[in-house]
Amino acid sequence: MEQPALFIFFGATGDLAKRKLYPSLFRLYEKGNLAEHFAVIGTARRPWSDDHYRQVVKETIQDLNPSEEAAESFASHFYYLSHNVNDTSHYDALKDLADTLDTRYKLQGNRMYYLAMAPQFFGTIVDHLKSQHILTDNGFNRLVIEKPFGFDLKSATTLNKQIRAVFPESDIFRIDHYLGKEMIQNIAVVRFANNIFESLWNNRYIDNVQITFSESIGVEERGGYYEESGALKDMVQNHILQVLSLLAMEVPTSFSDQGIRQEKIKALQAIRRYTPEEVSENFVRGQYAAGKIDGNEFVAYHDEPNIAQDSETETFVAGKFLIDNFRWSGVPFYIRTGKRMTEKGTRINVVFKQVPVNVFSFTNDDLAEDTIPEENLPQNILTIYIQPTEGFSLTLNGKQIGQGFNPEPVKLDFRQSAEVTENSPEAYEKLILDALNGDGTNFSHWDEVAQSWEIVDRIRQTWDKTTPHFPNYNAGTMGPQAAFDLLAKNGHAWIWHPDEWYRERGKLD
Ligand code: BG6
Repeated sequence: MEQPALFIFFGATGDLAKRKLYPSLFRLYEKGNLAEHFAVIGTARRPWSDDHYRQVVKETIQDLNPSEEAAESFASHFYYLSHNVNDTSHYDALKDLADTLDTRYKLQGNRMYYLAMAPQFFGTIVDHLKSQHILTDNGFNRLVIEKPFGFDLKSATTLNKQIRAVFPESDIFRIDHYLGKEMIQNIAVVRFANNIFESLWNNRYIDNVQITFSESIGVEERGGYYEESGALKDMVQNHILQVLSLLAMEVPTSFSDQGIRQEKIKALQAIRRYTPEEVSENFVRGQYAAGKIDGNEFVAYHDEPNIAQDSETETFVAGKFLIDNFRWSGVPFYIRTGKRMTEKGTRINVVFKQVPVNVFSFTNDDLAEDTIPEENLPQNILTIYIQPTEGFSLTLNGKQIGQGFNPEPVKLDFRQSAEVTENSPEAYEKLILDALNGDGTNFSHWDEVAQSWEIVDRIRQTWDKTTPHFPNYNAGTMGPQAAFDLLAKNGHAWIWHPDEWYRERGKLD
């Protein structure tokens, strides 16, 4: 069960390492996936000692309530090197320490290089790993790389070339942490393990698909990064397009990493490439103004730290994707994501078509006026709840109790208990273990990244030609009016509207 390996973290003092990576490694340690034969070298610029580093690591796992001995023995595997990514001699020191630890912990030459730092250094680090002979001949050498992978197709291609000169694609693990989430992984199971869904999963039965990734938090302390990325590059280029490809892909012949990747790539290739006019018609951007929800007041985006007063960065995107293939032709895939929306909620609504004829919509003189059913029956909806709750619901029409045949929607609802959700492995824990096992299923292949950039670049380039009228939605709401109009012009509406609950209670204007 144990997989011997040396982890080398670049960006070891950063937020991601502290919040996600060390706790995930600890959980793997507790489960025995990491045991005696593992070691970690943390690198960053700060001049920390091993002792200080181990102390920090121990603090990051406190929420997991480790015993004193467990925390101590876990942390004893950690070593720190102050490192300047441009200085060759620092890589020589890294090699010496890596070789020493390899012998000490019997790591069999297995190395995981984890780049958890600013992307402009990715290329340099990878070059040096090769030139300074840090890569081993006897074990595996895998590169785990955080987003953003480039800032457009051109820069991503350059970066990819640089990395591929050192690592083959099969040893590159591009993290998209959404692919480690339980319910995102569940999309494939819901589709391919249930005939009632997969047989209806096409344009004959599905009316539209809605993907909402809303966040209640603002930009927080990440102004510097976010000003450059905006919601489009931060969420759509990676997480949303990955989820969309999982929803839209064909059934793979086998559930292997290659099988899935092939189908995801084909789905991304089939997404319509919009002209600038089509972008303007099908995509909406927004930026939050100050707002108040449930008694809490929030400042406007442009008043957040490190944000320009006249910033044109979007904190919200809504759009309509079309997929030009046999399965999906004519079915809109609506997406929306934003900061400072009403609630944190990641969910997918699959809206089925109406039944061809509503046989209940007869006029019967014997029935009182108010028992005559409406012309259109409510549509069936499959909802996949990704977070904060995890589960599914299916809305069906049943008969209202009493006289006559009046249909009304009923909801079959399944949610994982809070206990199950809490105890299920964190996304990063699953992804690190996958990478350790060499399983690339839940990572982004270069071809997927390239397709996604191509799609997103077109939107970005069109937007860059005009000045948006920002801000255009209040903090605490579900985005600008244009995001609602986008669906209304096709006779559709967003299924999920958490803002209404607050409005009805006078908690939101
Ligand atoms: C990150 C984005 O990739 O995902 C953040 O950079 C965003 O801006 C985060 O807040 C959302 O992830 P999660 O797991 O909290 O839904």
